[in-house]
Amino acid sequence: MKINGQPTRTIRVNGDGWSVEIIDQTKLPHVFETVTLRTMEDAARAISDMLVRGAPLIGATAAYGVALAMREDTSDTALDRAIEVLGATRPTAVNLQWALADMKARLLPLGASDRLDIAYERAAQICDEDVETCRLIGAHGLQIIRELAEQKNGDPVNILTHCNAGWLACIDWGTATSPVYQAQAEGIPVHVWVDETRPRNQGAFLTAFELGQEGVPHTIIVDNAGGHLMQHGLVDFCITGTDRVTADGDVANKIGTYLKALAAVDNNVPFYVALPHSTIDWSLSDGVKEIPIEERNPAEVTAMQGRVPGGAVVTVDIAAPGSLAANYGFDVTPARLVTGFVTERGICGASRQGLFSLYPERARASA
Ligand code: MRU
Repeated sequence: MKINGQPTRTIRVNGDGWSVEIIDQTKLPHVFETVTLRTMEDAARAISDMLVRGAPLIGATAAYGVALAMREDTSDTALDRAIEVLGATRPTAVNLQWALADMKARLLPLGASDRLDIAYERAAQICDEDVETCRLIGAHGLQIIRELAEQKNGDPVNILTHCNAGWLACIDWGTATSPVYQAQAEGIPVHVWVDETRPRNQGAFLTAFELGQEGVPHTIIVDNAGGHLMQHGLVDFCITGTDRVTADGDVANKIGTYLKALAAVDNNVPFYVALPHSTIDWSLSDGVKEIPIEERNPAEVTAMQGRVPGGAVVTVDIAAPGSLAANYGFDVTPARLVTGFVTERGICGASRQGLFSLYPERARASA
């Protein structure tokens, strides 16, 4: 997708052929700045400090982190250390573990002298595959928007989303936003309600920014507004991304997603979750009990970042000094609240049976 009219990806190898360029997402939307990763440790810091974030992009950055580690040392010990350090950066998004397991499975059987080239090659493939996966998610999700548009007599289809499951969370297109971009390209009028997504404001800072850059009409709302809008018929459907889906269809996503799903069910608003195959954790069943939930620094809750007149970006305290704060990064929406999954292979029910219908190889593997 575009920034200032320029097609842009979230991660790429620089012209030197080895260092890796990312967008510093902690600075958006106020400042567009890129950062160069030169070591595996740079990649690990970029993930844990959330310069890059969003499940698919975390996985892709980790894959390049392994490639950067291989530049310095291609031994088994260096590979294991890279996987350990990168794997400890963020706990909830399973795409991180997926990408690291994939890199290890490809590199370990190779002789040390072959590992560097193959690591870069596979990291680039993971990125390219993610672009195609997200494009396909959009093509399938577009069907939902087309059907809703038929009932709207030319009025915009109103879509509510939470956090940023857009192209900034992936390599391109996004998961939840891909159907929106494809509907807009087809001339279907759309409008997106963007949850601001406290405490880090990925909705207000990132989703609104990328929708704006693509000319998609959107309105930022406070996180608690969704239920009210749904009660008044102002939301045609909800679509979010996810950081981990269990084999039984429970969905971990940014904190607050669960409450949106509850409100959606209470108001008969369809609630879809968009995901690539790399977000399914086939080893887990009960998401509430089994998915690790990231807890971040409470200072993210008691402070807020913004731009003041004159252009400087500042952080201000918004809480009474001395108050405790808790900062749970994600919550789990039980499968029963989810209307369906939009994947690169099509749309299915949020259940083991639904996922097996799209991924029959997994059904066979578990039989
Ligand atoms: O903490 P973040 O910004 O990494 O959280 C991102 C989300 O919750 C996204 O919805 C999720 O990763 C899906 S990305 C396509």
